[in-house]
Amino acid sequence: MANAAFLALNRALYAAARPILFRSSAQRAHEQVIDLLRTLDTRDSAIALLRAFNRLAFNPQPVTVGGVTLPYPLMLAAGFVKGDGFTSEAEALDAVESGRNIIPGWRSMPALVGPVEFGSFTRWPRLGNPGTVMWRHVSDRSTQNRVGLRNPGARAAAAFLGRHRDQLPDVYGINIAISPGVEVIDQQQQEVRESLDFFEAQAIRPAWFTLNLSCPNTEDDPGGRQTEALTRDLCRVVIDQLQGQTPLWVKLSPGLADEQYTLLRRVLAETGVRGVIATNTLAQPAPDTPELAAGIGGGRLHKCALTATIRLHEGHLPGAEPISPDVIACGGVLDGATFQDFVQVGAQAAQYWSALIYRGPLAAALILNEDSHA
Ligand SMILES: Cc1cc2nc3c(=O)[nH]c(=O)nc-3n(C[C@H](O)[C@H](O)[C@H](O)COP(=O)(O)O)c2cc1C
Repeated sequence: MANAAFLALNRALYAAARPILFRSSAQRAHEQVIDLLRTLDTRDSAIALLRAFNRLAFNPQPVTVGGVTLPYPLMLAAGFVKGDGFTSEAEALDAVESGRNIIPGWRSMPALVGPVEFGSFTRWPRLGNPGTVMWRHVSDRSTQNRVGLRNPGARAAAAFLGRHRDQLPDVYGINIAISPGVEVIDQQQQEVRESLDFFEAQAIRPAWFTLNLSCPNTEDDPGGRQTEALTRDLCRVVIDQLQGQTPLWVKLSPGLADEQYTLLRRVLAETGVRGVIATNTLAQPAPDTPELAAGIGGGRLHKCALTATIRLHEGHLPGAEPISPDVIACGGVLDGATFQDFVQVGAQAAQYWSALIYRGPLAAALILNEDSHA
């Protein structure tokens, strides 16, 4: 039984802290949190304390989904522990060499919240988009971002994690994405192969890899990546490379046509993909530059992600497919009720991001302890 008093205290503390945090812009508050995590990662005493909080907050509730056994059915989604941006691979590798923490939160977030999906990592480092790239919409507990895949690149990420191999958590995922602007399928396959090679060369073996086909915040149209042919080709490459040692999950967009989800589910099953994350953020006009797209997460995404989850389950033809991928829900899991919405349509586990903003660092523990009417 999670410590009810501890969770109540946590709820009260975050209710008091939230208005203060929300006085800063979403981006500034996020940067401050990342700075804090960068420091906490290096302090053994802080990690021990975060682990103690984790034990107080979470009940063991093991669940096997997408070929992975998780301690409980909520994981932190990609995009929170994703690393710094760099202009070149040499610069990113130099930073690793100099001992800089280029993936803030890599140690402290798993210690506190348990399973985390690191990334997205692209083959090459990226600075992401300039200017304001994160917003809150408090009225419906939503977030919006156009971070644009800022990350240190797969080689430096692997080198960094390799240096800390002994301190990596027991259960974590790694999300890889294709560099925006790479349209040629051979080159896309090459990028994915090389990214996986870097992790393998450093003996970084996550519990799962996710192939992100759905980032809405770059110059690419994510819909273009999620065709039957491209998805099949890319998944085959990854599955071949992983040789059955690590399960592959694929992350899809919200708002695809019903038939597209059915088609994609069949392709994923045929290629041996074990999990499908439904969904990434929903592209909407950015608040200050409406001609640019910025992905909506949180409350405003929930219905769309729920529809995708339902469609992906409808595509399941019992007995007709080799191994059907499990659906990992993602989109507006903010409380017990929104989590249960997904459970009721067949999702065994879910990921969250926006809940960290609206419910605090132990959001997952609060959600798991709330019933559907909380
Ligand atoms: C600031 C920010 C950055 C994100 N970056 C990534 C990313 O790099 N890769 C990815 O697959 N998803 C990324 N996401 C999407 C989240 O993983 C998640 O799919 C989305 O926020 C929906 O979940 P939510 O409704 O709980 O926020 C990002 C989300 C946010 C808010």
